[in-house]
Amino acid sequence: MKITGVRVFVTRPTGLNYVVIKILTDEGVYGVGEGSLNGNEIVVARYLEHIKELLIGHDPHNIEDLWHLIYRSGYWRSGPVFKAALSAIDFALWDIKGKVANLPVYQLLGGASRKAVKVYGHAGGRDAKEIEDSVRSFLERGFKIVRCQSGDYGGSGRLDYEPPIRDGVPGTAIFEPAGYLLETPRNFEHLRNALGMEVELCHDVHEQLTPTEAAWLAKQLEPYRLFFLEDPVMPEEREGLRQIRQSCTTNIAIGELFTDRDECMMLFQERLIDYIRIAPLHVGGITEARKIMVLAEPFSVKSAFHGAADLGPISQAAALHLQMVIPNFGVQEWTDFSSSETLCELFPTPCKLVDGYAHPGGAPGLGIDFNEELAKKFPYQSTYMPIVRRSDGTMHRY
Ligand code: CO
Repeated sequence: MKITGVRVFVTRPTGLNYVVIKILTDEGVYGVGEGSLNGNEIVVARYLEHIKELLIGHDPHNIEDLWHLIYRSGYWRSGPVFKAALSAIDFALWDIKGKVANLPVYQLLGGASRKAVKVYGHAGGRDAKEIEDSVRSFLERGFKIVRCQSGDYGGSGRLDYEPPIRDGVPGTAIFEPAGYLLETPRNFEHLRNALGMEVELCHDVHEQLTPTEAAWLAKQLEPYRLFFLEDPVMPEEREGLRQIRQSCTTNIAIGELFTDRDECMMLFQERLIDYIRIAPLHVGGITEARKIMVLAEPFSVKSAFHGAADLGPISQAAALHLQMVIPNFGVQEWTDFSSSETLCELFPTPCKLVDGYAHPGGAPGLGIDFNEELAKKFPYQSTYMPIVRRSDGTMHRY
């Protein structure tokens, strides 16, 4: 079997751009992959056009070797654009292997370790009561874990944050740490009084704090037993997580901006985190995400894979297949693509969410397809991530 071609697409069906590839073979079987990288989709697509020639003529079954062919051949390696492109290729190769074997990818990875993958949803509101109502709506729909945000990220005045990508010029949000630091523990006190201690709740700081501020917040939140506190500091300041560890026992999650295993290793070895939030889409596909989860295993670090709306349905399918298998699974962040008819038509999938658990389905390969004819109706449009400033106009750390 030989790779005969790679087709690259960028499509914007719902206000977000998705980078999709199809790897074609001489036997008619093709694989689908995804390389979306919010705000930089066109750069990944251009890079895929550049490197795709390297794959032509190779046997698509040799995933490990082809991964290293792409990784090593350019001399310059890694970084988000490179890793998103490599992930797209990796996903498509696993899809081909599964289709040829007539087995879902999770079977090729070792088989199911669980009945399905537990996911968490995003609740939010302008005040504690609105957040409570939003959490209740998720619990009623069967979710077992819910993320609780005031004004989405960073508390008061930041309700305009999501969706994170805007047309044309980037939107601007205002953040002040003092209000956020005081408001967040008050919100969780309300939620625990209203909902009890048993329900699993998490919170995303979205890297807005210094290590000292983050340690203070984690300590205030300790009595409310968070499932995890996400991204309390920027990845560049991850050594600051030591300060949080010394202050309290709040579970810590980080990693959605990581693209390499190197960024994870110190955090594992020093036991500074409880959940690693990599996405297979941004670290080098199923192949590399699996290795990172093996490295995490002896340090009791579990997966909490990144799954915001800008990581599309193919990436979500790949994450589900891997998390069906790994022993140190924690939770999957969930975006409900099935609520969009357009997305269901563009990315037909057997994936189902039932009672807070997602299953990738039993179809061969990744189980998901891509309708390239329909995609032509939804062309690329440039978008930019929002900017965060302090109230005096100074650019904030994020
Ligand atoms: Co996050």
